[in-house]
Amino acid sequence: MSQRPRVFATRALAGDALRELGRSLELEVWPEPGAPPPAALRDRTARADGLLCLLTDRVDAELLAGCPRLRAISSVSVGVDHIDLAAASARRIPVGHTPGVLTETTADLAFALLLAAARRVAEADRWVRAGGWRPERVWEPDLLLGRDVHGATLGILGMGAIGQAVARRGRGFGMRVLAWSRTRRALPELELEWAPLDGLLERSHFVSIHVPLTEQTRGLVDARALARMRPGAVLVNTARGGIVDEAALALALREGRLAAAGLDVFAREPIEAESPLLRLPNVVLTPHIGSASQATRERMAQLAVSNLLAALRGERMPHCANPEVY
Ligand code: DGY
Repeated sequence: MSQRPRVFATRALAGDALRELGRSLELEVWPEPGAPPPAALRDRTARADGLLCLLTDRVDAELLAGCPRLRAISSVSVGVDHIDLAAASARRIPVGHTPGVLTETTADLAFALLLAAARRVAEADRWVRAGGWRPERVWEPDLLLGRDVHGATLGILGMGAIGQAVARRGRGFGMRVLAWSRTRRALPELELEWAPLDGLLERSHFVSIHVPLTEQTRGLVDARALARMRPGAVLVNTARGGIVDEAALALALREGRLAAAGLDVFAREPIEAESPLLRLPNVVLTPHIGSASQATRERMAQLAVSNLLAALRGERMPHCANPEVY
């Protein structure tokens, strides 16, 4: 019988990372399209020394209890809210993640959503395709009027790497940048102003969310916070859906208290068919593609594999989300 460590990868990944992994250990890759169903995830992981997973794979205490061999978990994501970190730590299993390599790509999408929501890009595209642009309406003084991004105030919730990258883009567009974060750090090059949460919401024309989903941030942007936002403001979320109360957001958008939203993440993914957000023209929706560029997905796969291999060799993971295991 092979003595090589056994790894279950829940999906084929971009680039060559899995091929490299397969050379040094026994690798099983989920063969079907999409995520393995929970029972398959449990059964395959129960036979594995290492798990290479995605944010769609729920790794909870119950699953871990059935995996006595498991020595390493590596997620191809920066967010680890799909993994019970406390349960993994209690079993001394390091959990790897992929910060850094997706920062700029995710910030690009946040800004794309901000611009699209402000300037009604998706709405305009739908209007043109539907034949609305007719000879008698070639150029109308009031056609599809949006909001200026340049010179506006951008409020950023969470000043980790992605929040900072969005701040740089805001500065590039001539925006005033306000920042709110649990911990403040000196970031003189960004020329931003730290603000309390309510102050930021009240003053910002655009609010972009970049905090991780934790018990502290779940529902952070709730009905109360949305009511604090400046009338006509735009909300952008590329972090996690659970941070925003979607029903309250839909109401604020429908009532015109907020002008628009750009959303890449949702409380339930895929977005539910009955979500009121789907019926609002002033919402730009993308399907959780913040890190979706070929180069970034390849880098994420490489980093996730490096994390996994290090742990299986008994070394420290380059990026571990629960360093208390060491
Ligand atoms: C992450 O990595 O957590 C993003 O949501 C997907 O790239």
